[in-house]
Order: sequence, then C-alpha cells, then structure tokens
Amino acid sequence: MLLEARGLQVTYGPTEAVKNMSLHIAEGEIVTVLGANGAGKTSLLKALQGVVKPSRGEVFFKGQSVNRQSAAWRVRQGLVLVPEGRQIFVSLTVHDNLLMGAYTRTDNPEREIAAIFDRFPNLAKRRDMLASVLSGGEQQMLAIGRALLSKPALMMLDEPSLGLSPLLVQTLFKLITDLNRDGLSILLIEQNTHMALATAHRAYVLELGRLVLEGSTSELASDPRMAAAYLGT
Ligand SMILES: Nc1ncnc2c1ncn2[C@@H]1O[C@H](COP(=O)(O)OP(=O)(O)OP(=O)(O)O)[C@@H](O)[C@H]1O
Ligand SMILES: [Mg+2]
Repeated sequence: MLLEARGLQVTYGPTEAVKNMSLHIAEGEIVTVLGANGAGKTSLLKALQGVVKPSRGEVFFKGQSVNRQSAAWRVRQGLVLVPEGRQIFVSLTVHDNLLMGAYTRTDNPEREIAAIFDRFPNLAKRRDMLASVLSGGEQQMLAIGRALLSKPALMMLDEPSLGLSPLLVQTLFKLITDLNRDGLSILLIEQNTHMALATAHRAYVLELGRLVLEGSTSELASDPRMAAAYLGT
C-alpha cells in the first residue's frame, strides 16, 4: 500500500473534524474523498501531510509509520499536497514559483522546469510574469506544476476545480488522468462529485468528519445513498 491511515482523528479544541477515519491508496490509483463543506476533507489531508497532528490514529507511507515525521520529511519522501486556494507566491514570477518547487528534489531544476513548461504551454507563455496576473485556472496549473517538481509518488489535491470555468474543469480532470497514466498516484478532494466519480477509481464519502460510504466509483455512482445526497437526483 502506498498510503494507509488507520483510525485518524483530528480535533481543534471542542471540534472533532475527523473521526476514526481509515483509508488506503494503492500505487497507481486515483482515490477521491467527497463531502460537503465542513465535512473534514481538508483536515484529513493536513493530517496525512503532517501539517496537523492527529489526536489519534496512524499514517503509513510506503509501508512505514510517518506519525513522527515532519511535513517536510514527508514531501521529500514523495507525499505532496497541493493545498486549497493554490497558495502560490504571487510576488514571484511563474518561473520562480516553479523553482521553489524544484529546489529540494532535483540537481537540474531548469531541465525539469522546461519539462513542466512543455506540459503547461500557457504557463510557458507567462514564464516571466508575476504569478499574481495569472487567471484562477493558470494559478491552479502552476500549483500543480510546482508540486510535480518535488517528484511526488502521491499527489494530494484539495479541491483543485474550485472556481474554475467548466472548460478548465475538463482540462484539469484530463490532466489528472494523464498524470495518473504516467504513473502518479492521486488523492483528490472534490465537491464536483460527478467529475470526481468519473475520474477516480475509488471513493470515500465523509459526513461531519465520519466515513459514511466507500467503494469503487462505478458502484458509488449508482448507489442510491449517493444519488440522494450528492448527485442531486
Ligand atoms: N484551524 C481550525 N480551527 C478550528 N476549527 C477548524 C480549523 N480548521 C477546520 N476547522 C473545523 O473543522 C471542521 C472541518 O473543516 P475542514 O476544513 O476540514 O472541512 P472541509 O471538508 O475541508 O470543508 P470545505 O469543503 O469547506 O473546505 C469544520 O467544522 C471547521 O470549521
Ligand atoms: Mg476544505
């Protein structure tokens, strides 16, 4: 198993954001975690990355317990989060944002940045512009490009489609599929249930911090409980 979490609990003061959550991601999978606002999706990702310390439970990456390892250590091992809201450096150029992603993991950053520009021609055209002038979609691509430069084995994406136009949402989900075909395992947090179920292999559904459904996306897409709560049918 590439990543496994057992009995994770995340609490903020009196709030139990994640309750007894277990999940696993095998190498080569796209797994999605679905749930409404406040369901605990971001808290779960933060606990997996190690930016939030779970009050209970254990995280294993590549078969090894990582509970006592820092977020930076996990990134160096290939566990990489693209956070909600993109969090790129708006006062740096597109190129320099990518360089920030490359610095820990590569001895030839310019060659690898060139490969990212090949994958994202829109970013290549804006290479020397400040990231602040990019559209929302371009900023999302930049955040993903930067994450790719740290050579992830598992990329975790927190609501990457949020705020994108329908056309860009299509582009984004095609990118996720392409990256997965190239060997990247992906954990995808989404509120776009339709697209996530069409793209991922398996899904977990959270409600108020608790796991309520899990299964293959083909099963869940036709599950009446899914249909009522998340597919608007
Ligand atoms: N730093 C924090 N301090 C206190 N409470 C928090 C903190 N972060 C999140 N929470 C609470 O924990 C619960 C889960 O929040 P979380 O952000 O994980 O949900 P989410 O599923 O990612 O929601 P969204 O879809 O809105 O991003 C919510 O009730 C939220 O208010
Ligand atoms: Mg969130």
